[in-house]
Amino acid sequence: MTVPTHVAIIMDGNGRWAAQKGWPRIKGHKAGVQVVERILEAASDAGVRHLSLYAFSTENWKRPPLEVGALMALLRMYLRMLVHQLARKGIRFHHLGALQGMPTGVQADMRALEEATAKNTGMTFHLAVNYGSRLELAQAARRCVEDGLSAEEINETSLGARLWTAGIPDVDLLIRTSGEHRISNFLLWQSAYAELYMTDLLWPDFSPADLRAALEDYTQRERRFGGI
Ligand code: FPP
Repeated sequence: MTVPTHVAIIMDGNGRWAAQKGWPRIKGHKAGVQVVERILEAASDAGVRHLSLYAFSTENWKRPPLEVGALMALLRMYLRMLVHQLARKGIRFHHLGALQGMPTGVQADMRALEEATAKNTGMTFHLAVNYGSRLELAQAARRCVEDGLSAEEINETSLGARLWTAGIPDVDLLIRTSGEHRISNFLLWQSAYAELYMTDLLWPDFSPADLRAALEDYTQRERRFGGI
């Protein structure tokens, strides 16, 4: 079986999962966090080298303040307990997104976890919070200018080196749950040749077995990268 080096997941459907049970949306997010823990472990065990999870987009700030506040509180709680799981599995943590614009406590927790896990040599877990592909690309373009690059020097390599994902291999497999067939501003540049895997399962129902099914499906795909 060919294991994809970089798997990215758009974790969608927490709200609907909770609503189906007559529960508040935040209960869906809490259940979603537990699934994150299991999937992290399953991906690491399967030999995935990079796992990117989309937890909060630059557009998600438009949600009701109560839900945003609850998500941020959940995120901080999660980051604090994550350090033990990551140490056990030798997983490195990396925040994907703009630090600026996030609550300062979240920024500090993100940095602390990156530092605490910097020497781990297993899978890298990229958690996308305050992430948007268009913002990432615009920032990379601005950094090219700030770095004094001439028009001729701006190319795929120099721009790619200024993305938040600099040095990380492109996405091989992009999974989205909850039956939506959208990329929603997630890793647009990095997913240029990614295989897409959409499932109707809502994120809280997505299990390690479902991840393994997606990995299995990936091995059946013939990737040509634009060639023949
Ligand atoms: C999509 O469900 C999910 C999110 C916007 C957040 C993803 C968050 C988690 C899995 C939990 C928080 C994660 C961490 C790491 C703390 P939705 O709310 O869009 O669901 P809906 O489409 O059914 O409304």
